[in-house]
Amino acid sequence: MTFEYAPAPESRSIVSIKPKYGHFINGSFVSGKKHFPTINPATEEILSHIALGGLSDVDKAVIAAQKAYTKTWSKLSGKERGKYLYRIARILQERAREFAVLETLDNGKPIRETRDIDIPLVAAHFFYHAGWADKLDYAGLGHSPKAFGVAGQIIPWNFPLLMLAWKVAPALATGNTVVLKPAETTSLTALLFAEVCQQAELPDGVVNIVTGDGSTGAAIVNHPGIHKIAFTGSTDVGKKIARAIASTEKKATLELGGKGANIVFDDAPVDETVEGIVNGIFFNQGHVCCAGSRLIVQESIADEIIEKLKVRMAKIRVGDPLDKNTDLGAINSKEQLVKIKELSAIGDSEGAERWSPQCNLSNKGYWFAPTIFTGVTQAHRIAQEEIFGPVLSVLTFRTPQEAMDKANNTPFGLSAGIWSEKGSRIFWASQHLKAGVIWANTFNKFDPASPFGGYKESGWGREGGRHGLAAYLKNGKESGSN
Ligand code: NAI
Ligand code: MG
Repeated sequence: MTFEYAPAPESRSIVSIKPKYGHFINGSFVSGKKHFPTINPATEEILSHIALGGLSDVDKAVIAAQKAYTKTWSKLSGKERGKYLYRIARILQERAREFAVLETLDNGKPIRETRDIDIPLVAAHFFYHAGWADKLDYAGLGHSPKAFGVAGQIIPWNFPLLMLAWKVAPALATGNTVVLKPAETTSLTALLFAEVCQQAELPDGVVNIVTGDGSTGAAIVNHPGIHKIAFTGSTDVGKKIARAIASTEKKATLELGGKGANIVFDDAPVDETVEGIVNGIFFNQGHVCCAGSRLIVQESIADEIIEKLKVRMAKIRVGDPLDKNTDLGAINSKEQLVKIKELSAIGDSEGAERWSPQCNLSNKGYWFAPTIFTGVTQAHRIAQEEIFGPVLSVLTFRTPQEAMDKANNTPFGLSAGIWSEKGSRIFWASQHLKAGVIWANTFNKFDPASPFGGYKESGWGREGGRHGLAAYLKNGKESGSN
């Protein structure tokens, strides 16, 4: 017997969205010159208009951040800085529902995820880093580690507020001030965070938010007053940033793309593994740099796993992101939907077999049904390129060594998953996988104490944990990658 779910929409009355926003510079909102719309990707409703920051806005923000660094922030003890971080964390918790609803409206991800994953992790990042602020001298980061000054931070649209937290919390804990640019399609929660900075009475200019597009991001990267850059986004832009700073003293951490392998051995617990595969690729509509977008399954159990996966996929509820029952929300933008469709069409033309469950997708908004491709070979583009959508490529293997070879055969090296009952096999595989994050019998688990980052074209450096602090300190011992 199948139960139908009645609609259970979360009310949006808790958020109030202004018709137009400016930048947040030196503790105040200042108006922008040009604006562009931000929409709800589930309905195409225009939510607000966001300022397009130019060179002079970035310049004002950097000057404010420099002044805040020299006059206030660098003079405070770690203990005092920590208090601000605690205060921000507490306010974020108090306003969690407001942030969750706003994030869902602007991004298209399900309220279940913003409410239970994004926003709690955001608060956790601030709490965690609050605890570090007065302990930097004892963290094995070198003697009396010093901040850079102003950090320029550019973030993507897939986890808008969470990526802000990953960037802002360690920067402030280590004594830097920041100029941050949210992604063009998802600026609203960053602008609400600016209000939280005001509410926490964070000294003016410690956090500055300039909204805009790639040109605004490039202006931050190229500004001579910025000493450290933290970027999360596409490998293409990551490469541009690496080129732009190549002849400068600027330091950078780059969190880029991935094509994570989720490896299933023949002794894996089947039902748990199927859940893990679903979580690995359909969490956040697959807009996840560390998504388990390649299923690499042992040939002897492939048919059973795929059959059960299809049964499970047919139960994924796609639809209104504000509905508390929704599993898979809207694709973040029209551009991203086009990219997912194009790469999927390439999968068809290269001979892989596509399957999706029956889904009633709305005509308004941007939607893509959960999809798997079987019969994928390593040469297929859908086995090599990041699709960044709810699309899984399935490959098979016969020997453990073959699984390792296939898993490592991409330009990326961000994440991997191993499903097996045997601890010895998990340890063996984790030593052979070239991936910054490896999960065993689980997937997509995040914790502020755990460093995150990749090898090869997945980026430079680590974020989170003690390793992440080092990246914001001049003499901080950088943890190795690449
Ligand atoms: P993107 O890399 O263009 O955007 C990320 C951020 O960088 C945005 O804030 C953007 O405004 C900014 N930016 C763009 N050009 C810049 C430049 N020249 N200098 C400085 N900042 C710049 O990513 P996009 O176009 O939104 O997505 C394209 C693909 O990138 C996706 O399909 C996905 O494969 C990948 N991606 C990966 C992410 C990850 O978490 N690793 C996040 C977002 C996208
Ligand atoms: Mg939007």
